[in-house]
Amino acid sequence: MVDSQQQREAGTLRLQVFLSRSGITSRRQAMTLIQRGDVSVNGKTVSEPSFPVHGGEDVRVKGKRIAAPQYQYLMLNKPSGYVTTKRDPFAERTVYDLLPKTLSGVKPVGRLDKNTEGLLLLTNDGKIIQRLTHPRYNIEKTYLVRIKTLFKFEDRKKIEGGLFIDHKKTAPAKIESIQNKSGSSQLTLVIHEGRKRQVRRMFAQLGYKVVYLKRMRQGPVKLGRLPLGKFRFLADGEIKALRAI
Ligand code: URA
Repeated sequence: MVDSQQQREAGTLRLQVFLSRSGITSRRQAMTLIQRGDVSVNGKTVSEPSFPVHGGEDVRVKGKRIAAPQYQYLMLNKPSGYVTTKRDPFAERTVYDLLPKTLSGVKPVGRLDKNTEGLLLLTNDGKIIQRLTHPRYNIEKTYLVRIKTLFKFEDRKKIEGGLFIDHKKTAPAKIESIQNKSGSSQLTLVIHEGRKRQVRRMFAQLGYKVVYLKRMRQGPVKLGRLPLGKFRFLADGEIKALRAI
């Protein structure tokens, strides 16, 4: 569930970030404007760049009202057991149960299976969703895959070269690492497609059962150390990298 700290911070931006994300200035210039006393919030001058601001507040620079940033970008470290959908008629737990209500307008960028963990990007920026999910853009995704038997060396080529799923060959993939330990294996796999249950089905084709699957990276954005079940807003650099796709 969402903790109170996140609840308080949801939909709130630091004044400096509010100004830079609203597109009127750079982050550095926003700092200068604030420190110079050119910025007011609800009629009062604010000279603290980290002052928290909500979308509905009256923010002005030299008296001119600034519209709140339009888009929200966040990442969630999705735990197993949550479905990537907004409403589930069978009342399963959904990823929205892990977000505050104020963020209910964001949509998932692609899907993770109920039993998959890891990086799920969410945004209300349709263009970014389209770019990250459309096959034309070839966006790489990195997964950590655990199987409960040893991975056979000769299968690497098969996975990397492509396998048939629903009569269609998967695009070339890359296995970045393989660790074999006490009868089971852990692999790092990079794919560009987002077909349904793709990783599980690729391994199933070769007779392996995936017992743990976690997405670590989606395009330029990495999961990093975000704790399981928690979300955070993307940093400006991450948003910039997504927009550059
Ligand atoms: N591939 C899968 O099999 N499942 C996921 O959730 C993501 C990729």
